[in-house]
Amino acid sequence: MLDKVRIKEQEVDSFKISNQEDLEKFRLAYISTKGEIASLFSEFRNVPVEEKKAFGIELNKLKSKAESKFKGAATALSEEATSSADTTIDLSLPSIPHQLGSRHPLSIVKNRIVDIFSRIGFGLSEGPEIEDDWHNFTALNFPPDHPAREMQDTFFIDQDSQKALRTHTSSVQIRILENIQPPVRTLAIGRVYRNEAISARAHCIFHQVEGFYVDKKVSFKDLKQTLLYFAQQFFGPKTKIRLRPSYFPFTEPSAELDIYWGLKTEADYKITKGTGWLEIGGAGMIDPNVMKNCNIDPDEYAGFAFGMGIERMAMLKYGIKDLRLFTENDVRFLRQFTSLDLA
Ligand code: DAH
Repeated sequence: MLDKVRIKEQEVDSFKISNQEDLEKFRLAYISTKGEIASLFSEFRNVPVEEKKAFGIELNKLKSKAESKFKGAATALSEEATSSADTTIDLSLPSIPHQLGSRHPLSIVKNRIVDIFSRIGFGLSEGPEIEDDWHNFTALNFPPDHPAREMQDTFFIDQDSQKALRTHTSSVQIRILENIQPPVRTLAIGRVYRNEAISARAHCIFHQVEGFYVDKKVSFKDLKQTLLYFAQQFFGPKTKIRLRPSYFPFTEPSAELDIYWGLKTEADYKITKGTGWLEIGGAGMIDPNVMKNCNIDPDEYAGFAFGMGIERMAMLKYGIKDLRLFTENDVRFLRQFTSLDLA
């Protein structure tokens, strides 16, 4: 019986495994439960008692020999397979470039505005997008029957509690002035919501930048100079501005801010309605009532405020004609702004 084991051992030793096919043959012959070694194990009971021990030892040796040969051959063959795959890679080929993402044009414009104002001491503040009536309307001196308070203009979340999506970033003025003792000089940038039908010129979601400065002797001259500085930094050093009298509940006096766009092309005539001037925002001196609503004494302090649309700035700067492009996220549109960082 021992001889049988020895013969199998020689067979195992001399079995040549040079490819997957040989490997499979070897497995079936010696490793599988129906193989020859397994059948020797089943003969164990026929072995005479005095030989059992030696037979057992030899058979186990044979089994582990076959198993390690199988494992060794299997690893060697798989390494060979991967290394031969490696050699098919042409290392001289140029690599596939990584596509860099690009900043959204609104982010580029926003960052630029923050940068310009930070150089004259403006910080950055935030307020919630879900606002209450007090911060969005009442404290800003909106009369109770003002049309902006109507459902068709404002998205109310809940009529009873008067919670709504903020319609402008002016609400942040109240949030800050209620909590911080002047002097305060800050911007508030963010999303605002209005119940408008979506078109090339209007959207129900857009972005505004609000800026305000409250201190002891802030005057209209400071406002005008600040706006001129901004317009020249953003649109170019020769940019002219003008302030047209206007009305906002939260400022007195109030003005509309225009920049001189020029009348060089036909498109200029169109966007400036033939005047050469283009409106870019609203501004004014903070109304004493607003100050009082924030517990600031209007006899001691004065302040100016301004508000502009970020989309409008981006449209003017990049010549974008349709507001919807900002929210559609078409990569063909977005990719164009990779290298167009405003200096
Ligand atoms: N809140 C105004 C709006 O949404 C914009 C605005 C106008 C803000 C004049 C101001 C301001 O701070 O002084 O249309």
